[in-house]
Amino acid sequence: MLSTPFLLLVPLTLHAPPAQQGPPPPPPHQSASSLAPYVPTPQDVVDRMLALAQITKADTVYDLGCGDGRIVITAARKYGAHGVGVDIDPQRIAEANANATAAGVDALVQFKLQDARTVDLHPATVVTLYLLSASNLKLRPKLSTELKPGSRIVSHQFTMGDWEPTKKDTFVDEKGMTRTLYLWEVDGKPRP
Ligand SMILES: C[S@@+](CC[C@H](N)C(=O)[O-])C[C@H]1O[C@@H](n2cnc3c(N)ncnc32)[C@H](O)[C@@H]1O
Repeated sequence: MLSTPFLLLVPLTLHAPPAQQGPPPPPPHQSASSLAPYVPTPQDVVDRMLALAQITKADTVYDLGCGDGRIVITAARKYGAHGVGVDIDPQRIAEANANATAAGVDALVQFKLQDARTVDLHPATVVTLYLLSASNLKLRPKLSTELKPGSRIVSHQFTMGDWEPTKKDTFVDEKGMTRTLYLWEVDGKPRP
C-alpha cells in the first residue's frame, strides 16, 4: 500500500514545470547585434552617394545593412557594377531580392542574411553605409584592413571618429532635407 503523502506527491511529479514566463526574445534586427534601425536612403540621395564614389562597371559595391537593396541595385542598373547587400532582417533581404528581379539585375547582385560585422570585405571596391557613427566605428577596423588601398567608402550622414573623410558633400535633397555624405579613400593604414 502506498502511503497518503506519496499519493499526494505523484500528480506534482507527473507535470512538467511551467514554461518560463516573460517576453519572447527580439528578432535579430532589433537585438544587441543591430547597428541601426531601418530607414531607407531616398533615391536621389542614393544617386548622389554613387556619384560621389565615382562608381564604374569595374566596381563591386557592398552595402552593409542594405535594407531593400536600393543602393546596390542602383549601382548595377545605372553603372553595370556588381553588388552585394547584407542585412540581418530577413524581411529586408526578401524585399531586396524581389527588387533586384524587378530591376532585371539578378545576375549582378546578391543579398545575404548576415551580420555586417562578419562579412568578408576583401572582394569589395566600394562600401556604402547608412548606419550610425558608433556603428561605423565598430566596422572601422574591418574596413581599414580588409579593403584594398584605393577602395572607397561612402557614408550617408554619419562620420567615422577621427578618420577624416577625403571628401564631404552637403546638399538639400528633393524633399528639402539637408544631407551630408562622407567619402573615404582607403590608404592601407589600419584604423582600430
Ligand atoms: C538605416 S537602414 C539603411 C538601409 C540601406 N542601406 C539604405 O541606405 O537605404 C540600416 C539597415 O541596417 C540593417 N542592420 C542593422 N544592424 C545590422 C547588422 N548587424 N548587420 C547587417 N545589417 C544590419 C537594418 O536591418 C537596416 O535595414
